[in-house]
Amino acid sequence: MIQQRVVQSDGLTEDERAQMRALFAAAWAGRFSQEDWDRTFGGLHVLRRVDGELMAHGAVIERTLWLDGAPLRVGYLEAVATRPANQGRGHGSAVVDALDAIVRENYELGALSTGRRSFYERLGWLLWRGPLVVRTAEGDTPTPEESGAIFVLPTPSLPDPDLDATLACDPRPGDVW
Ligand SMILES: CC(C)(COP(=O)(O)OP(=O)(O)OC[C@H]1O[C@@H](n2cnc3c(N)ncnc32)[C@H](O)[C@@H]1OP(=O)(O)O)[C@@H](O)C(=O)NCCC(=O)NCCS
Repeated sequence: MIQQRVVQSDGLTEDERAQMRALFAAAWAGRFSQEDWDRTFGGLHVLRRVDGELMAHGAVIERTLWLDGAPLRVGYLEAVATRPANQGRGHGSAVVDALDAIVRENYELGALSTGRRSFYERLGWLLWRGPLVVRTAEGDTPTPEESGAIFVLPTPSLPDPDLDATLACDPRPGDVW
């Protein structure tokens, strides 16, 4: 039986957190850092279970991003993962579909960083083509290493974002995007 639960971070049980840790360790083959783990919390989680076992997860957290200097309330996707043995069966797409609905309803734009372009493009996400920068005390610092990895999801409040504009984020521990 497939169940999908949407829950705020502070509503996650200890057992759910333990299952998430195991899922992320398997999906990223041990390369999911403590910083990656920390940034998964503070928003909403979609937990997809099959017969009670966690198969896939994704989270959306709120971030401010700046589009040509104008602040946007963004739903930022984190820790989208499916158990390796069960990938390619639609679990990840179902989780992202649920996250997309949350983003469209509550935020001005969706955003995420990924190496899985085809997966997100198929689900309606658009590659950011413009400059990417991080806002620091010294001013905007380019993050060219993220070029080709940042995707956005249009919403009813911003149905046609200018994908060639400059997109800026605040710094945070670990990967800024
Ligand atoms: C990326 C990831 C979450 C995808 O999860 P998934 O459960 O395999 O996703 P889906 O099964 O919905 O889709 C995966 C592929 O299988 C295909 N697929 C989905 N259902 C299918 C089905 N019933 N039959 C055949 N193929 C299917 C999809 O077309 C998709 O192909 P695409 O990625 O080229 O578009 C998963 O590969 C993963 O955990 N990767 C490691 C962590 C990671 O990289 N996360 C993303 C970083 S943001």
